[in-house]
Amino acid sequence: MKQQLTEEKVFKDPVHNYIYVQDQTIWDLINTKEFQRLRRIRQLGTSYLTFHGAEHSRFSHSLGVYEITRKIISQFERNGYPDWPAEERLVSLCAALLHDVGHGPFSHSLEEVFDTDHEEWTCKIVLEDTEINRVLRAVSEQFPAQVAAVIQKTYPKPIVVSLISSQMDADRMDYLLRDAYFTGVNYGTFDLERILRVLRPYKGKIVVKESGMHAVEHYLMSRYQMYWQIYFHPVTRSSEIILRQIFRRAQELYVGGYVFEWMPKPIKGLIHNTMTVQDYLKLDEALVQTAFTQWAEERDPLLSDLCSRFMNRQLYKYITIEDPDEALLNEISDCFSSIGMNPDYHMEIDFPFDLPYDVYRPDKKEGEKKEKAPILLLDVQDEICEISAKSDIVRSITGLHQGEYHLYYPEEPLKKNIHLIPEKLKNLFKLA
Ligand code: NI
Repeated sequence: MKQQLTEEKVFKDPVHNYIYVQDQTIWDLINTKEFQRLRRIRQLGTSYLTFHGAEHSRFSHSLGVYEITRKIISQFERNGYPDWPAEERLVSLCAALLHDVGHGPFSHSLEEVFDTDHEEWTCKIVLEDTEINRVLRAVSEQFPAQVAAVIQKTYPKPIVVSLISSQMDADRMDYLLRDAYFTGVNYGTFDLERILRVLRPYKGKIVVKESGMHAVEHYLMSRYQMYWQIYFHPVTRSSEIILRQIFRRAQELYVGGYVFEWMPKPIKGLIHNTMTVQDYLKLDEALVQTAFTQWAEERDPLLSDLCSRFMNRQLYKYITIEDPDEALLNEISDCFSSIGMNPDYHMEIDFPFDLPYDVYRPDKKEGEKKEKAPILLLDVQDEICEISAKSDIVRSITGLHQGEYHLYYPEEPLKKNIHLIPEKLKNLFKLA
């Protein structure tokens, strides 16, 4: 079954204006309960506590990635490029639409605590007994496995993988534009139409016509700006720290035999690390936030405090520490303990870091994290070259290491016990 819809469907979208659906399979996937669940998961996790507009969902992002992929393929088809394998259209569109379907509530934070992986869940949702799997199997028996292979980057045709997973893929292009729009900042914008026009399929890869280099530079600058201004915003990091601590504490209590007043089954499965796909699909941000409201009244004072901090946005403050050496951290930890704070929870060092563009290194050692495909330029002589070899701008932002250490802590107990804090730490925490 590979039929076209008799009448194309559209979704109104603030980033792409309209999102066009022409295939019955795509329409059916959007209408599955597993895909609809993405409406209940925010694209930017806790960023709404910093940028109140950031309430957009993974549903809208997934449609956006699908739409960018559809536009790229349609440009290849219109131009009749022989290097684009036309039979890969549907598998590419399905993988683009479904690439984030395994994300759980506040997933980047929860993945760190529970060591789960949204990509693994995505593949389970595609391959196991779900509505999505049924829709994909209607195309062919092997189709679900093909879609999963694209998402896992093991699909035999790298050109298909690079559409949704490379250093300039449909995923990144959509989330930068979408996150910029919903946070209300302008850094993330770049000329998507221009980039889409200069992409070419070439010898099994996607390359950029050299005349499009400046549009790509702009895209990489946007990515650089978005990381430092939005994704690594210290207030957002503070809320992520508290979120992780809530789950760390809940797990600690659960393992220690503590009986919760309120513990819904899907969250118990998460804490206990025994989840089926069906349990996992019941997890969404509404449930997690309901749990926090309930846990704010638990008997455990630490869990209760962390939950009400998260719900009421009473976040941890932070100071920048130039050199977090052990002696200083011990001094802080001792001081915190002496005034009744819990250093295991009440002090956390954070060092956010990302490279806007990872220069391709053929000598990269085995075992190092596999980098995503580099951005390749195609010049007028049909020669290919990696973008940082031609662009001073790309080379310079790649060399920028802007990271610094932040120490997060609750400020109220320090203020309350100011008379017990040594002078040196008073200055460090700006309490003087
Ligand atoms: Ni994505």
